[in-house]
Amino acid sequence: MPARGKFITFEGLDGSGKSTQVEKLARSLRAHGLSVTITREPGGTSAGNKIRELLLHSATSGLSPLTEMALMFASRAQHVHEIILPALADGRIVLCDRFTDSTEAYQGGGRKLGTKPVLQMHEILCGNLQPDLTIMLDNEVAFSVERARRRNRTHKSPRSEKGSGKDENRFEQENRAFFGRVRHAYLAIAAREPQRVHVVNARGTPSETHAVIMELVRKKLKV
Ligand code: TYD
Repeated sequence: MPARGKFITFEGLDGSGKSTQVEKLARSLRAHGLSVTITREPGGTSAGNKIRELLLHSATSGLSPLTEMALMFASRAQHVHEIILPALADGRIVLCDRFTDSTEAYQGGGRKLGTKPVLQMHEILCGNLQPDLTIMLDNEVAFSVERARRRNRTHKSPRSEKGSGKDENRFEQENRAFFGRVRHAYLAIAAREPQRVHVVNARGTPSETHAVIMELVRKKLKV
């Protein structure tokens, strides 16, 4: 049986550059001969992608914060079961664009549900699965969110879903106070779990940020 793989998650505000960094890290790790699975939330499975569409489409209205949280976890529970655990059991490195910290930041902080219900749902629905390493890309709210909105307007993102004209704007329409709470909640998670969560300044160029991330991953994986 192969040794259990490693689970690495990426977190940050919309427009913090996560998807670019996930791709860059995957390329570097594969160049070292490692087996890498890239995935994301909400989504990552066929059922999860349907839930993603419901959650992110700007025409979806009237979802209560609890319903929103429940849907995030419905997508996640299936994702853990169908993709993440099997890949880890196979010895692969799983790079996941968002995980439960996103729910704690967006629904717990942004929507004001608090930390407790999120951690309880994580325990029940995801067996309390913890990433080996979480890379939290941090930047000013104004900078990140404006970048995400610009990307959606111009549709020039390398990320196919964002560049395909698909409407995934529901969260990006939230106001600055919402994203201020999201960032605050993220930084509180990092302060609570310094062993797992590493805050990386995302103001540099993509290559500079990648170099910092590579160093963190090298230490963790010993590659
Ligand atoms: P994502 O596609 O990663 O957006 P971006 O590339 O702009 O960062 O995530 C979609 C949105 O879903 C994002 O606004 C954050 C939100 N989200 C939550 O509110 N809670 C969650 O648990 C997850 C996974 C995402």
